Amino acid sequence: MSEIRSDFITDYDALADEWWDPRGSLAPLGWIARARAAFVPTPVTDTATLVDVACGGGLFGPHLEGKGYKVIGVDLSQKSLEVALGHGYDGVVRSDISWLPFPDASIDVVTAGQCLEHVRDPYTVVEELCRVLRPGGTLVLDTIADTKIARLLSITVAENVPLPGRPPKGTHDHRLFVNRKRLIAVARAHGVELTLHGLRPSIRDGLPFLVRRREEVRMVPVGSTAVLFLGVGTKSAS
Ligand SMILES: C[S@@+](CC[C@H](N)C(=O)[O-])C[C@H]1O[C@@H](n2cnc3c(N)ncnc32)[C@H](O)[C@@H]1O
Repeated sequence: MSEIRSDFITDYDALADEWWDPRGSLAPLGWIARARAAFVPTPVTDTATLVDVACGGGLFGPHLEGKGYKVIGVDLSQKSLEVALGHGYDGVVRSDISWLPFPDASIDVVTAGQCLEHVRDPYTVVEELCRVLRPGGTLVLDTIADTKIARLLSITVAENVPLPGRPPKGTHDHRLFVNRKRLIAVARAHGVELTLHGLRPSIRDGLPFLVRRREEVRMVPVGSTAVLFLGVGTKSAS
């Protein structure tokens, strides 16, 4: 068995110019960011902080504008953080998301889009996300399930069919895909009861996107969480 790749950070530094290309290799991340935003609650105070871990080039930032949060992005890719700063982030911090530089129970909303499937131990990261979340705060994450169908669609198909938005070959390693039961159990053990929602790109938008009649493909809800899924939960008071 080959080594799990550990050069993802270098990859995202190299891709930093592509973050905002609507037909580039990172375009689907922008579609997912729009879907994620629907799960971010209205802040309850005017000093609420949202930390977007593994923020990349900041595709989520514009969807948070006007919501009233102080938005902090965290990522290891310095070049991506520089891009994110121009897109609705009040501040950025270079850090590994396994060790977040925030005190316990200090953050109102933590978001983690499309990153758990890029780290060696996603469950440790989830513990860390729960640690920094304040009681009553909201965790919103999205990632890829550790199933055969996810491997087929997210790697075999997505990385090989030459269409706009195709991720670079080797973006994903199926051994890092996330086990949903374990994810729920780890979050629960750290005070967050996650509800999972399946997502997929709208088939109806696919052709107009391909022929440049649409700039973006909407993500739509789907009953199964076996491929791409979003998890949302509130941290309990105790
Ligand atoms: C697929 S991109 C997702 C970016 C962003 N969340 C989005 O949805 O557009 C994965 C991001 O995770 C970051 N990343 C991967 N491993 C990381 C780690 N251990 N600590 C911090 N960032 C990491 C990469 O630099 C990259 O920006």
